[in-house]
Amino acid sequence: MRNSPNEILRVEDLTVEFPTDDGVVHAVRGVSYALHEREVLGIVGESGSGKSVSSLAVMGLLPRGARVRGRILYRGEDVLKLPARRRRALRGGKIGMIFQDPMTALNPVHTIGDQLAEAVLAHGLVPRRQALARAKEMLDLVGIPQAEARLRSYPHEFSGGMRQRAMIAMAVINSPDVIIADEPTTALDVTVQAQILEKLLEVKDAVNAAIVLITHDLGVVAGTAHRVLVMYAGKPVEIGDTDTVFYRPRMPYTAGLLGSMPSLETSGGRLRPIGGAPPSLINLPPGCPFSPRCPLADGTCTAEEPGLAEAGEGGHLAACHHWRDVAAAPDPTALFRTESEAV
Ligand SMILES: Nc1ncnc2c1ncn2[C@@H]1O[C@H](COP(=O)(O)OP(=O)(O)O)[C@@H](O)[C@H]1O
Ligand code: SF4
Ligand SMILES: [Mg+2]
Repeated sequence: MRNSPNEILRVEDLTVEFPTDDGVVHAVRGVSYALHEREVLGIVGESGSGKSVSSLAVMGLLPRGARVRGRILYRGEDVLKLPARRRRALRGGKIGMIFQDPMTALNPVHTIGDQLAEAVLAHGLVPRRQALARAKEMLDLVGIPQAEARLRSYPHEFSGGMRQRAMIAMAVINSPDVIIADEPTTALDVTVQAQILEKLLEVKDAVNAAIVLITHDLGVVAGTAHRVLVMYAGKPVEIGDTDTVFYRPRMPYTAGLLGSMPSLETSGGRLRPIGGAPPSLINLPPGCPFSPRCPLADGTCTAEEPGLAEAGEGGHLAACHHWRDVAAAPDPTALFRTESEAV
């Protein structure tokens, strides 16, 4: 496949396995995507679907013992083959990251200013005074009032929302061109979530970065992502432009997610949760991993796992043997009946 000129990150057939005493955990089973300059790519899926593990693989932060296969190309260069020193330079330099819990990334015994300055000093030869000035500039950018004074605060003196703003500042302080944000608003109060998300997107634009926005919440990607990749049991099961995926889902799992989302027009105002739970990643069921929960499952589904295939225009891909039936349904979310609808 020819890479387009403004492509920054390309993940090809990424596989991650964890050997454990109970067996091999197939956490990521063939993830591929491309990220272009300034693009917002949403990665969505239930807890345990491999979202974090696939992004940790991109960052080179997987625990020892993890088995990684596939290719991760940053501007055409395979990150998995880079020497450790160059990989570290990429991480926190050209690729910034934001995690769900800022306390795992912020050091409680150092001031916010020192940590931000350290992030600058780790990636370039600048005087410390200049690094601190940059730190202040970043706190201003993320909307922390009295930035100068706040440089001397410790993380515990910040509220959850302020800490996440500080994390955003840290992620962009070296002007990355990719930000990987893993559930950046999940740990926050609902009232603060929207503000932080808005700030993240504003800051991303200010530094001209692209972003991989990882979330279990379709609502987060609805108004923000250009494209969406839906993950299930370690695999992408649907990918396409956000509007296409929202209004013309082709994979029943995506339809199920949409139907279980509050206040979406396509669900007719009715919440229809997907019954059951995701499969064990040690013992996957034969065929399609969604078949135990899928209202359209039949013998074909349990016999063979569907691959991602074209299911519409504009690079819309879905992994489902029966995507045409989903396409033909007037309201795909109605494939999942609520108890009151069942006869
Ligand atoms: N270090 C590890 N060892 C064994 N299994 C792991 C490890 N890290 C993650 N997993 C498993 O990999 C799967 C995917 O995890 P994760 O990517 O964190 O899911 P998500 O971020 O989508 O909630 C889960 O089943 C999880 O239990
Ligand atoms: S392949 Fe079959 S079981 Fe899997 S999502 Fe499609 S219809 Fe459902
Ligand atoms: Mg996660």
